[in-house]
Amino acid sequence: MKLIQVKVDGQNVEAQKGRTILEVAKQVGIEIPTLCHKKELTPFGGCRLCVVEVEGRNQLVGSCHTPVEDGMVIQTRSAKVMASRKMTMELLFAGHTGPCVTDRRAVECELHNLASAIESGPPRFRVKSPRVYRLEDVSPYVWRDMSKCILCGRCVRACREIAGQEVYSTAYRGFRSKVVVDFDEPLNKEVCKDCGICVDYCPTTALKWLGGQKGRINGEMKAKPAPALKARESLLGMLEAEQRKRGGVSRGAMVEMASKLGMPLNEVYGVATFYAFISVVPGGRNVIRICKSLPCLMKDGRMIIDAVRKELGIGPGESTGDGKFSFELTNCIGACDQAPAMLVNDDVHGNLSPERISGILKAYH
Ligand code: SF4
Ligand code: SF4
Ligand code: FES
Ligand code: FES
Repeated sequence: MKLIQVKVDGQNVEAQKGRTILEVAKQVGIEIPTLCHKKELTPFGGCRLCVVEVEGRNQLVGSCHTPVEDGMVIQTRSAKVMASRKMTMELLFAGHTGPCVTDRRAVECELHNLASAIESGPPRFRVKSPRVYRLEDVSPYVWRDMSKCILCGRCVRACREIAGQEVYSTAYRGFRSKVVVDFDEPLNKEVCKDCGICVDYCPTTALKWLGGQKGRINGEMKAKPAPALKARESLLGMLEAEQRKRGGVSRGAMVEMASKLGMPLNEVYGVATFYAFISVVPGGRNVIRICKSLPCLMKDGRMIIDAVRKELGIGPGESTGDGKFSFELTNCIGACDQAPAMLVNDDVHGNLSPERISGILKAYH
């Protein structure tokens, strides 16, 4: 590989072309603080904590994703760099809720330790309305407290690239950005394989492991590549078409798109909620999912679909006007022995007949 000459904090360094500034600095024992970066994960470049000064450039550059160039002169600890890192840290803490600084758990918190290492003081400003979310305590393995999330994206990449699962994605835009599961639902045991890898990679206390043995999928983990650009482009086309046709995109439509493109549902939701011109039709408070897999269809599943349609006046992919119910068709819900079956929220209703539908749904009114 071609060697080039760079200067880091006054030291002349012979570096391999293509290496990042972060890697080359490390090669000569200079540590640059990082937050969103992990060398085993794809670069993200989101947090700007790793910035350095490069002679001749007006802006500070992110060292974790900027490759060195021949003749580059780099300062990793100039006054401008240190001030920027402190400001970044203050901004992260400004939107951070909870008593983290005095929290005993904070000693385990990488963000907290990083703040001490770069000597950033308490934040001088507070955001008007911090991002506050309810604790997600549904999964028996991992609880999520998204109020403590700093959107570093490490859990998203670790789950996909190390655990080989696609549980998380980033949805919404700007200040509302959030790491979501499916349609922004609490992490549940159906989607998560209890390996605990996302918890290990989280630099805050946003993810909590509930104890027990980690790693049911150990040994069978296979990294998944990010969805191909082509699939994302097709998705945008589909979302646009649906928006034009129906004035919004329903959950049912997103489920279909995900299955057509072989993309995880959370990815589809993430893209749909990112673009302002697409409006996602909110789901009802109670989500009815009827299994459209063969065992259920062979046992009069279609009659159940018709019975729900008749009872609520909505078809798959639609929501009732009062927002109480939305109705979706889904793949196997793991209740084949009770076919035909449906889910209302997390409740399984099996051995259905059209006559039972009205009584079951009344309980959710
Ligand atoms: S525990 Fe494993 S499978 Fe579950 S969300 Fe975390 S990384 Fe993904
Ligand atoms: S939950 Fe943790 S790892 Fe995931 S984006 Fe938030 S802070 Fe980063
Ligand atoms: S560590 Fe480099 S941008 Fe986050
Ligand atoms: S400082 Fe808040 S979770 Fe670490």
